[in-house]
Amino acid sequence: MEEIINPNEYGGLMIDNQEVEAVKQVILNEKIFRYATGEESCTDLFEKDICDKFGVQYALGVNSGTSALKVALKAIGVQPKDRILISSYTFLATATAVIALGAIPIPIDFDLNYGLNLKDLENEIKKGCKAIIVVHLQGKCFDIRPIIKLKEKYGISVIEDACQAMGTKNKGKFSGTFGDLGVFSFQQNKPITCGEGGVIVTNSKEYYNIARNYADMGSVRDYYPSWDKEGALIGDNYRMNNIQSAILRVQLSKINKMQEVQIKNKEYIFKRIKIDEVKEKIINKISDDDTGINILFLTSSKEKADICIKEAKDCNIEIRRLWNKPYYLHQVMKNEKLTPQDLNKDACTFAETIANNLISISLPPTLKNDDLESISKLINQLIEEGSL
Ligand SMILES: Cc1ncc(COP(=O)(O)O)c(C=O)c1O
Repeated sequence: MEEIINPNEYGGLMIDNQEVEAVKQVILNEKIFRYATGEESCTDLFEKDICDKFGVQYALGVNSGTSALKVALKAIGVQPKDRILISSYTFLATATAVIALGAIPIPIDFDLNYGLNLKDLENEIKKGCKAIIVVHLQGKCFDIRPIIKLKEKYGISVIEDACQAMGTKNKGKFSGTFGDLGVFSFQQNKPITCGEGGVIVTNSKEYYNIARNYADMGSVRDYYPSWDKEGALIGDNYRMNNIQSAILRVQLSKINKMQEVQIKNKEYIFKRIKIDEVKEKIINKISDDDTGINILFLTSSKEKADICIKEAKDCNIEIRRLWNKPYYLHQVMKNEKLTPQDLNKDACTFAETIANNLISISLPPTLKNDDLESISKLINQLIEEGSL
């Protein structure tokens, strides 16, 4: 099988000697554990880099995006049986993180502007809830300002699952910085990567302290961990190590350049395709906020989306669905009686449609002119056939 032209990978494709040297330094220093000395570690420095880049006061590196979600939920004080309203159009981890804390994920229907259907959301808030998790998409930061207004009106917390969306903005503001806490993933397919990893960002010292202790086995630490001091709790081990952060510091230093290249590539494609015929179907247009990571097309049916995926495959181009069903339609969720019907709430009909009809063409920063020409040609072919 020939290699696909546009794999769903970004920072991972840009790894070079800089990351190798950074990892080498950590190994030569013989201190991979972030708290191995009382000194400032590479992971501390990475957290400072994140604070500088995203204009937040606190950042905590952890070992995955899923861990970041669990730690963020713990930080806001989620208890067993709490209702947590989450986007129905997301990766399973958003729901399983809630379940891991004994809480109940309530799926909220999807919306293309706000990420969550505001009517469905407010209906469910009125039944009582502890928090909302809004999920930004790869290539799209939603305008969650109306959700922040609901948070203020009802006194609940908002966590942004920006696991896929590092660097995306809405009207100039970074995803992950609107709510009480934002979480990001550094798994291989994310904008920047160290294979596995995550980070939590917040402007709340209180949430940061709980998050830091919880992710460090519940201890309060100077150099040695203590479970006797005030603030200690029963925690878990979700720590990031210095090899992960060494890679991530270099990756983060490349993110602006990568995004510049991605946007240029997207502009190149837009100049070559019959843009007027599809511009209404593109949900992440080129604007100051776009990172150029992909083109998200909303097709008019599952069948049309299937045709696009198949024809692309024949040209060694990947067109894919972000998720092929709302998370609650996976059998594991049905087994746990966590579908809208089980939870006695409105159906998430738009999420079910979107999961079928929304497709993504990844635009990794390594694309060459020939690749851009092939992708443009395919898109024009799909437009002419009426599939796009
Ligand atoms: C929306 C969303 N949330 C959470 C996660 C979990 O992140 P990780 O794989 O780093 O645990 C992912 C990863 O794909 C994701 O896409």
